[in-house]
Amino acid sequence: MSKEEKPESMSLYPLGTAAAPEPELLCIFGTGDLGRSLGQRLLQSGYKVVYGSRRPHSCGPVPQGAQVMSHTAAAQSASVVFICIQREHYGFLEQLAPQLKRKVLVDVSNNLRKNLYPEANAEYLQRLTPEAYVVKAFNTLSAWALQNGPSDSNRQVYLCGNSTEAKEAVTEIATRLGFSVQDRGSLSAARELEDFPLQLFPLWRLPLRLAFGLTAFFFFYLLTRDVIYTYATQKKDISFRIMVSLANKVFPIVSLIMLALCYLPGVIAAVFQLYRGTKYRRFPDWLDRWMLCRKQLGLLALAFAFLHVLYTLIIPIRYYVRYKIAASTIAKMKENQTSELDTTIAWRSDSYYSMGILGFGLYVLLGITSLPSVSNALSWREFSFIQSKLGYLTLFFCTFHTYLYGWDMFLRSSYYKWYTPPGYMLSLLVPSVVLVLKLLLLLPCVDRSLTRIRQGWERTEPQDDSQKSLIT
Ligand SMILES: Cc1cc2nc3c(=O)[nH]c(=O)nc-3n(C[C@H](O)[C@H](O)[C@H](O)COP(=O)(O)OP(=O)(O)OC[C@H]3O[C@@H](n4cnc5c(N)ncnc54)[C@H](O)[C@@H]3O)c2cc1C
Ligand SMILES: NC(=O)c1ccc[n+]([C@@H]2O[C@H](COP(=O)([O-])OP(=O)(O)OC[C@H]3O[C@@H](n4cnc5c(N)ncnc54)[C@H](OP(=O)(O)O)[C@@H]3O)[C@@H](O)[C@H]2O)c1
Ligand code: HEM
Repeated sequence: MSKEEKPESMSLYPLGTAAAPEPELLCIFGTGDLGRSLGQRLLQSGYKVVYGSRRPHSCGPVPQGAQVMSHTAAAQSASVVFICIQREHYGFLEQLAPQLKRKVLVDVSNNLRKNLYPEANAEYLQRLTPEAYVVKAFNTLSAWALQNGPSDSNRQVYLCGNSTEAKEAVTEIATRLGFSVQDRGSLSAARELEDFPLQLFPLWRLPLRLAFGLTAFFFFYLLTRDVIYTYATQKKDISFRIMVSLANKVFPIVSLIMLALCYLPGVIAAVFQLYRGTKYRRFPDWLDRWMLCRKQLGLLALAFAFLHVLYTLIIPIRYYVRYKIAASTIAKMKENQTSELDTTIAWRSDSYYSMGILGFGLYVLLGITSLPSVSNALSWREFSFIQSKLGYLTLFFCTFHTYLYGWDMFLRSSYYKWYTPPGYMLSLLVPSVVLVLKLLLLLPCVDRSLTRIRQGWERTEPQDDSQKSLIT
């Protein structure tokens, strides 16, 4: 693009060479990892690149086609300068301030931890070079991502700065490199952008803690009920059951509870909206945070369901199971006994397998539609139909599967070892509550009010007496 076609560059420092030829020349300070990757990407996208280095003649390798000069010479040749240097070494830029006057300086730096310095790196750079236009950008991308070009998961460039024209110039470059840009406002947002790369799975923390906590609780609960109880009462060591039998109880139980916890916040949100008579008041923070991590909760729950299915698949080949079947067959043969087919048991077992399979099929569908490449291809209505409506159906199938599995177990006192209920009963508590509350919300009179509230209708509260007296 010619200089005349770029109105935003008019009020900035003009390009070094009077008649800047195509392609546009950009400057990078620093020939390290990020500087090299960025330079290569810029060259591939049709820009010319000049590096400013402390050692122009002995610096490390730079991409083919790029020039290397001293910082001063390089700064003079371009209107946009990428500062690909660690913040600790910014000091020398203060002496270069006259050469950097009215240039766009792109600060790409990050820190090793939060609040390492009193001010954001980009604000520090602005203080060193008060007459330059500092823009914070590209710091959330790794050198690797820059070199390889944007991928689905890494397409976003966040930027902020005080000069609109400078931000437009950087936006144009980022767009030409294939990234989409999100403007986060003035330079005071720089600290927030610098903290982005330091975050470690922020939305996964709560679901992971929950999964870990539930797994640990149910493991020890079932270990006590099954293995320790048998040893204490019958002096029989059945600890080998920890590996498959116990695991195949803990995993589905945790999965079912976590699945229900994906849908509980939606129900609680509906109750809040009904109670308040408006959708315009913010939910409490804990509910907001819970709603935001439902995808992660759901995906972890799906992983646990997968484990349950895999463990179930190996049941017929287990030595213990084959031994038990053979022993009971031999015993029957010895006593010359046969057993009648119990169609109730056949119905029950087939039904709970079938519910499990249907539930698992829908579970996997929820997982597939949460992949960005799939969800991006769905309209909001389609996505919400699958996640919300089919999600409830998934919860229903899985809960029903567990009820059918339990069948009449709850009537038999032998299952309440040491007066504790079997694990599957505990796992049914949250899903049952969610399903019952959802059914109540679907009652026509409740559903009508909720729908009106969600369409923007608000219940006007009768003014209380104190307000009335103030008005009069
Ligand atoms: C394997 C798996 C994968 C998952 N992947 C995802 C995922 O990718 N993304 C995700 O978000 N969740 C995901 N989840 C979690 C869960 O499926 C969804 O959050 C689901 O949408 C929750 O449905 P809901 O009906 O409880 O709540 P919501 O869909 O939040 O909505 C509750 C009700 O409120 C309405 N509503 C919501 N917000 C508003 C509003 N602002 N104004 C008016 N009405 C509103 C809705 O129409 C709906 O009727 C996943 C779960 C699993 C098990
Ligand atoms: N690497 C990444 O994936 C990544 C991702 C996002 C952001 N960043 C940010 O990008 C910046 C550069 O990171 P990097 O990984 O490229 O670092 P690096 O490999 O250490 O390179 C930094 C470069 O800065 C120059 N330099 C070093 N000491 C200097 C000094 N005292 N004075 C002047 N220049 C000096 C050197 O270039 P010369 O020898 O040519 O002068 C050096 O190659 C950092 O602020 C980092 O936070 C990096
Ligand atoms: C292919 C699909 C599935 C099959 C074939 C299947 C099969 C089984 C079997 C055989 C059992 C009994 C295990 C035992 O004897 O200890 C069981 C129990 C159970 N299943 Fe499934 N299941 C499936 C999917 C699911 C899904 C998706 C969930 C939901 C999270 C689920 C939740 C449970 C629960 C909570 C139990 C009770 C665990 C216990 O306390 O013993 N199942 N299932």
